[in-house]
Amino acid sequence: MIKTRMTELFGVEHPIMLAGMNWITDPKLVAAVSNAGGLGIFATARCTPTEMRENIKEIKSLTDKPFGINQILLGPGAAEGIQVAIEEKVPVVNYTLGKPWFINEVHAYGGKVLGTTALSKHAAKAAQLGCDAVVITGHEAAAHGANATSLILIPIVASALKIPIIAAGGFHDGRGLAAALALGADGISMGTRFMLTQESVLHDNFKKLCLEATEQDTLYDTVFDGMPGRALKSKASEIMQKRGFPAVEAVKAAMKLRGILQLSYSQFVKMSIDMMTDKEEASPPWVLARQAAGTVRHLKGIYDGDVEEGILFAGQAIGGICDMPSCKELMERIIAEAEQTFASLDAKVQKN
Ligand SMILES: Cc1cc2nc3c(=O)[nH]c(=O)nc-3n(C[C@H](O)[C@H](O)[C@H](O)COP(=O)(O)O)c2cc1C
Repeated sequence: MIKTRMTELFGVEHPIMLAGMNWITDPKLVAAVSNAGGLGIFATARCTPTEMRENIKEIKSLTDKPFGINQILLGPGAAEGIQVAIEEKVPVVNYTLGKPWFINEVHAYGGKVLGTTALSKHAAKAAQLGCDAVVITGHEAAAHGANATSLILIPIVASALKIPIIAAGGFHDGRGLAAALALGADGISMGTRFMLTQESVLHDNFKKLCLEATEQDTLYDTVFDGMPGRALKSKASEIMQKRGFPAVEAVKAAMKLRGILQLSYSQFVKMSIDMMTDKEEASPPWVLARQAAGTVRHLKGIYDGDVEEGILFAGQAIGGICDMPSCKELMERIIAEAEQTFASLDAKVQKN
């Protein structure tokens, strides 16, 4: 048993969180992690409010343990998504990219607010605004990790903040958990590792590619969705990197995504302008079109297993992952390894 401020704050058994991953963290995976004693997080960005409520209800039907939702605060639909989470009294509201206006409302029903950031200054801001804990995401991570690695970020943020911090980016085993705790974190959040479990919906073709990959087999670039992000090195991701900005594909994909998100043209334009004008997380307008192109390619990878056209966000942790356990097996193993690591460290250090 490893008890930390994270387990205490969220009422979970293990200091391990499932990172919100669009398209991957479906209710079954979220519930599997929560039922195994971790904190399952459902990424909501793709949902209409109705779909979001249905997903939350499905998670509740699969587990009576604490879980959370992850909502990107930029763009249309964010306020509606947060409102559904509040109405459903979701235990943990995890947000990215934006300022949380809902902290008091979540606290009012006993929920917790968890900010996800990649910069120490944004982590400090989240704490100042009243968040209960923060996730900080290092460079090793799948998708949008920081420029700085977890090794650098964790102690900086841990020294500066009084609230619990959860380390994300590169964690996949018990030694990683022990290291994160030693660096000052109160737990870890894992995306890539949970994506490669029995309960994950990721298509077998991409599961196989990930299992064969080494730590060298990711690419970090802005071409995948317009923001600096890390994806699995694959045929499509390498071509995207060589070609640069995919103008025609981006416009086509943006139109397709507008349909998927059920946005009117005016909402779609507003979303672009919001992204363009947000002072804190400024993004150029074409980021949206690039995100759309990235999403279409992700769907091809995750659901169709199209290894020619599809891409997949994946972290450097893939180099250390070589099996496909259930979430329960994985978490029991990580805790046992971390305990063993603490014991062996004690023996390793020579004492006079
Ligand atoms: C396939 C995939 C999709 C992701 N989608 C999102 C997302 O929608 N929102 C988000 O904030 N992070 C997303 N992430 C990043 C994770 O939330 C997390 O920061 C990252 O996986 C942690 O690093 P790790 O992969 O080394 O564990 C995604 C990661 C993966 C692997």
